[in-house]
Amino acid sequence: MEIKWLEQTGSTNSYLRERMDSISPMTLVCARSQIAGRGQRGNHWEAEPGKNITGSFYMQNPEVSPMEQFVISEAVALAVVGTLKEFGIDAKVKWPNDIYVGDKKICGILIENAIIGKSLQWSLAGIGLNVNQREFLSDAPNPVSMALIAGKDFRIEEVARSLGRNLESYLSRLSERKSLHDEYMAGLWRRDGMRHPFRDAATGEIFDASVSDVKPTGHLCLETENGIREYAFKEIIFLSKDD
Ligand code: BTN
Repeated sequence: MEIKWLEQTGSTNSYLRERMDSISPMTLVCARSQIAGRGQRGNHWEAEPGKNITGSFYMQNPEVSPMEQFVISEAVALAVVGTLKEFGIDAKVKWPNDIYVGDKKICGILIENAIIGKSLQWSLAGIGLNVNQREFLSDAPNPVSMALIAGKDFRIEEVARSLGRNLESYLSRLSERKSLHDEYMAGLWRRDGMRHPFRDAATGEIFDASVSDVKPTGHLCLETENGIREYAFKEIIFLSKDD
């Protein structure tokens, strides 16, 4: 995957969206400084200039139906986990596609899809991987970086090249839905067969459940003592034991 470096932009997701006709698909556009980074739920994404990977790429007409679009999230998340592994860091995917080390978030992924009729016209993924940042000023609850974990700095360009390679390799396997899904499930955070506490965002109900599956649409299946419940992103909140 080619990597294109920008000195500064607002958001690499927005940059790409505005320039899809002039930038080739599968080019990872990284900004050394991203001044208006966008996160999930309309949040701001904090990234100190020059210290992290803030990058995006897009795929044109990926051969994935909108009903199975979650396989793209799975592939992107697995690529990040693969890169972290290459640098000696053991990470897991917190459903749907946050990357965690222990109980801390090291990477966020923001995927935007354009659906026309029954097909995906394009899919754009933005990746914010915390590399050398050691202090986080925003109110993000539990950030961590590669440097904080390893106790040393990393070369950003080297990490970006590894990410480009892993993205290319995982995204070339989109048609092998089942094997990607199995790998995603095997590396899922809190999928240890134990019951963990969750809060239903709509009703506020707190209950214990174990993570049993993730549907091709991305819905999370939780097994409670009364059966399986399915949740879409934002409908369910992972709690910790002391919440
Ligand atoms: C999250 O909230 O977890 C998702 C964060 C995604 C951040 C990345 S940084 C590169 C790309 N550009 C953006 O504006 N957001 C994504």
